[in-house]
Amino acid sequence: MFYPLLRKILFQFDEEDVHHLALGSMDALLSSASLRRTLRKKMAPIDARLHTQVAGLSFEHPVGLAAGFDKVGSHVNQLASLGFSHIEVGTITQHAQPGNPRPRMFRLPKDKALLNRMGFNNDGSDAAVSRLHGLNPETMVGINIGKSKITPLEDAAVDYVSSFTKLYDLGSYFVVNVSSPNTPGLRQLQDGDHLRSILKALLVVRSSQKFRRPIFVKISPDLSDEALDDALDVVLDLSLDGIIASNTTISREGLKTENIENFGKGGLSGAPLRKSCLNRIDRIYRLSEGSIPIIAVGGITTAQDVLDAMLRGASLTQLWTGLIYDGPFIVQRILSGLSNFCEVSKIESLDEIVGQFSQ
Ligand SMILES: Cc1cc2nc3c(=O)[nH]c(=O)nc-3n(C[C@H](O)[C@H](O)[C@H](O)COP(=O)(O)O)c2cc1C
Repeated sequence: MFYPLLRKILFQFDEEDVHHLALGSMDALLSSASLRRTLRKKMAPIDARLHTQVAGLSFEHPVGLAAGFDKVGSHVNQLASLGFSHIEVGTITQHAQPGNPRPRMFRLPKDKALLNRMGFNNDGSDAAVSRLHGLNPETMVGINIGKSKITPLEDAAVDYVSSFTKLYDLGSYFVVNVSSPNTPGLRQLQDGDHLRSILKALLVVRSSQKFRRPIFVKISPDLSDEALDDALDVVLDLSLDGIIASNTTISREGLKTENIENFGKGGLSGAPLRKSCLNRIDRIYRLSEGSIPIIAVGGITTAQDVLDAMLRGASLTQLWTGLIYDGPFIVQRILSGLSNFCEVSKIESLDEIVGQFSQ
């Protein structure tokens, strides 16, 4: 098909340049709302068996676009036409920041993976407010918030609260990102006390708002079992709305790519993440006894990957790296596989399989 050939050409160029080129081309090609609507219908035909409710939100199907693809929310409607049931914009920080020096995004084709050390490059929450205001999104939009690099760890809650408050009316749900490996010290915010103080501060803000927006926490796949259990205790204790498992990993275990150390620091995404992501889902589902929604992200490229995550307890999934390796029809392929599965298994709702492997 056409994508393997296109990918061969695109892979000759710098990953970040290609990313901007692809988004720019989508903006130009998909500037018409009616064209976007037609494309979306082809990419994600409505199938009631795939509908799902998570944290009070209604999703057309369980496949969304993970954070970091559209960091500042400039391409939401163009990306919506690829069929995603939701798009997570961000990570957005209180202050504008350039991120780490380039090059900072690398392909590892032998592993169907990417390595990135972007460092939350974005133009800050004020700019995000003006951009997202009046957007009229063509799919559900979630907003992922993080700590600015210049904000000391002990003031992290203030940074998150600032972005959360400003952006509150513009996202259907929010994600507290405490798990990127590319902001120094950020992952320490997953520790019980830090996490509790940030989440409590956000809950205070939420309690004063007219509408209740779900808040999810995005965790690292590198947390030890004990650290994951501590974080989960906090999330359950505060009755948060869900956990996203997971962000990129700093592990380089089992890679086929030679001289991986030459790429330097960064978080690894894609196929090598799949196993640890499933392990985390399994553990969260068992410990929480299925009481908290889990959103699976890490190495998802096929219907089988989505089913594997759901069987272990995920209610929803997201992808990022799969779009680079498998191309713009990835959602269509996954959804067709999921519809097929429902047909063959004679199930009326995909929700029925959530957590079946964990019982
Ligand atoms: C280049 C790049 C940038 C990313 N930026 C963010 C980010 O800003 N915030 C975030 O929460 N996750 C970010 N992620 C992580 C993804 O959202 C996702 O958790 C991870 O890539 C695993 O999914 P995948 O294997 O489908 O790529 C980024 C991933 C990549 C590859």
